[in-house]
Amino acid sequence: MPEQILILDFGSQYTQLIARRIRELNIYCQIFPFNHYPTITPDVKGIILSGSPCSVRDEDAPDVDLGVFGNLPVLGICYGAQLMAQKTGGSVTPSKIREYGRARLSSVLNSDPLLAGISTGEQVWMSHGDTITALAPEYEITASTDSVNVAAYRKRNTNCYGIQFHPEVTHTIPGQKLLQNFAVSICGCRQDWTPGQFIENTVHKLKEQLGSDKVVMALSGGVDSTVAAVLVHKAIGQSLSCIFVDNGLLRKDEFNQVLASYRGMGLNIKGVDSKQRFYAALKGLTEPEAKRKAIGKTFIEVFDEEAHLISGVSWLGQGTIYPDVIESVSVKGPSVTIKSHHNVGGLPEHMKLKVVEPLRSLFKDEVRRVGHTLGIDPAILGRHPFPGPGLGIRILGDITAEKVALLQEVDHLFISGLKSHGLYDQVWQAGAILLPIHSVGVMGDERTYEQVVALRAVVSVDGMTADWSHLPFEFLSEISSSIINKVKGVNRVVYDISSKPPSTIEWE
Ligand code: XMP
Repeated sequence: MPEQILILDFGSQYTQLIARRIRELNIYCQIFPFNHYPTITPDVKGIILSGSPCSVRDEDAPDVDLGVFGNLPVLGICYGAQLMAQKTGGSVTPSKIREYGRARLSSVLNSDPLLAGISTGEQVWMSHGDTITALAPEYEITASTDSVNVAAYRKRNTNCYGIQFHPEVTHTIPGQKLLQNFAVSICGCRQDWTPGQFIENTVHKLKEQLGSDKVVMALSGGVDSTVAAVLVHKAIGQSLSCIFVDNGLLRKDEFNQVLASYRGMGLNIKGVDSKQRFYAALKGLTEPEAKRKAIGKTFIEVFDEEAHLISGVSWLGQGTIYPDVIESVSVKGPSVTIKSHHNVGGLPEHMKLKVVEPLRSLFKDEVRRVGHTLGIDPAILGRHPFPGPGLGIRILGDITAEKVALLQEVDHLFISGLKSHGLYDQVWQAGAILLPIHSVGVMGDERTYEQVVALRAVVSVDGMTADWSHLPFEFLSEISSSIINKVKGVNRVVYDISSKPPSTIEWE
């Protein structure tokens, strides 16, 4: 294992952000639930205790045994700081004044290694309902704001620190400096966790793990599965067989283009045209979840059949990334399933193969950096996310081959327009939606009664929240004319100006 920082999650919405900030320092870190983390091994250089929606004063407040960490450096953030303070003899009470939002440090103990280089007056960001009102005698306050006396503290002559503000959010201006002070100066991490090192370690590990075994992978043309396949290919070469299924719901010409670029990378890939099988499975289905399930089930059947044609396969490769595997801590009840994503989720259980997932520890932006270092075409690395069920969830209502062909044309005009106007990289994801309604129009002297399409383009960081992209009106106007003039059957184009939440990115 590379040297690393462990982040124990008490359920804060910012826990993943802490991990991303540490990773940005080229230091490896992992998130574990506060009540379920591995034995502390010598590669662990420090511990971070996250924030939480809970109060340390709650009867069943999430707790952790601090003794387990020995002399390792510990940084408690918000709830983590309050928990440490309370457990060691200090006190935490409900705040009397507002401790939410921007604040300025009014005093800073500069000799403290955690706060080195951070000055009085710098902006930090608070978000808590409780506050630390007293510390045990062996602790000292190292920073305050006008309203929060114990903004930061430390246990004298140890590497145990607490802060009540959030260094991981960008509103805390010296936040990254503070995390660097902790991880580099205090924990002694070397900052050598780079894409190049990741590739070297991963390929080495894959060689050991897979030996002369055969691996099969489903590729989608997306960033994650492509980078995962290139890593496995680097380790075992032609013992990796890749399958790319045309489910009839891909973008225009995508099947052939993607196959060609995979072949160009030297991957051993088979394209399987299963369009008619998917259309048959979808016939008459209108309900979004029913369509997703039919697409997922058909995919598993096709992939399973294809995989069985390759003799002696014992592993299934997948492009699973870190946000998919972090066990989310449910301190406030189970989270609700809004849409059943990841339609290939059932694959490993169904196929009874061992699973190899070389990207399990990476965030999306790290996958792109690794892909870049591997020399993968920037056009593939920069592709917008595209859902597994593809155009199947962008054709509202039932799906037919004719509707797919129409939407492919509309989508193609929109996406190529974004590219030619230099707007493609400014949006996170874009596409067109075929609405199940007809509207009246007039073309020449003729009355028309044709279909309506919606265009959707969003800006986002991770797809969890999103805002509609403020594309220039001139561009939208040009695309609208181009679609209505060129795509027979469409006489109206609308632009979706909803943000997520309360809407979602996809319409189904
Ligand atoms: P929503 O619509 O939930 O989408 O705001 C967030 C992101 O997830 C993608 N998405 C899916 N991806 N299978 C997938 O593989 C699905 O069923 C699915 N539904 C939505 C969506 O395109 C966006 O990037």
